[in-house]
Amino acid sequence: MVKLTVNDLLECQNIIQYRHTNLVCLFSALMVDNHFCMVMEYVANGSLRSKLKAKDENLDYSVRLQICRGIAEGINYLHTAFMTYLVHRDIKSDNILLTEDYTPKICDFGLAKILSARIDHGNSAIFTETICGTEPYLPPESFQGIVSRRFDVYSYGVVLLEIISGKPATFSDLEGCRFLANYFLHCYNHDKSTFPIAETASWPNNIKKKLMKLAKNCLKRNYRDRPQMDKVTTKLAKINLMQDNSPDSKLTRFFSRI
Ligand SMILES: Nc1ncnc2c1ncn2[C@@H]1O[C@H](COP(=O)(O)OP(=O)(O)O)[C@@H](O)[C@H]1O
Ligand SMILES: [Mg+2]
Repeated sequence: MVKLTVNDLLECQNIIQYRHTNLVCLFSALMVDNHFCMVMEYVANGSLRSKLKAKDENLDYSVRLQICRGIAEGINYLHTAFMTYLVHRDIKSDNILLTEDYTPKICDFGLAKILSARIDHGNSAIFTETICGTEPYLPPESFQGIVSRRFDVYSYGVVLLEIISGKPATFSDLEGCRFLANYFLHCYNHDKSTFPIAETASWPNNIKKKLMKLAKNCLKRNYRDRPQMDKVTTKLAKINLMQDNSPDSKLTRFFSRI
């Protein structure tokens, strides 16, 4: 059992201030008989990972795009809402819960780290002695203990790949490539068409290409070259317009069914 300190409790109570449509709402954090308890909103539809694994037929491209946007909005909020930077450090499809209308909610703030006050124009990074997170989602610099907001941007890039392909973050068809991110980068640099695409999504070609390019940017090796999350949300809003212009918007059909 993990022994939590008063500081952990205070950090949790700090996270309670964070309220956003795309974050699981934490109501309170308290000690009950020496047990650490968190009271939070119940999100009924399971995790994004479980829906992708089950090839949920509601996950057509429009719904997937809204999920990509929601996760990006949630992370951007964590990075910018207060006078300190908060890095989640464990963004992954297992930690994205879905409501009944497929609104994504980021959960599991167990590794969240407050970096610093926002006085450095956004370039802050810190060194930590412990490497934490989930291996296929870890950016290269994290192995040197470097943590910045671009940590979450990299992990978000991996989640984008899972949403595009439906494959888990540990998927690879290639010898020597252990993870989806490395496999994707190999395909992208050689022959983009070899990267698997979720069939149930029916991705329009132009939207798929834009999302793959966005994932490529989020997965840049040098963390300083990755976009900040606000740039990612702007890009996704533009990609969303591409489908809004199409009369065949499946999202409209999806919501008219429920
Ligand atoms: N607020 C919630 N509503 C519904 N299910 C939840 C909620 N929080 C967590 N879960 C379920 O519990 C699982 C593990 O929760 P999580 O907070 O990610 O803890 P950890 O990964 O540290 O065990 C999630 O993947 C989800 O299935
Ligand atoms: Mg978790």
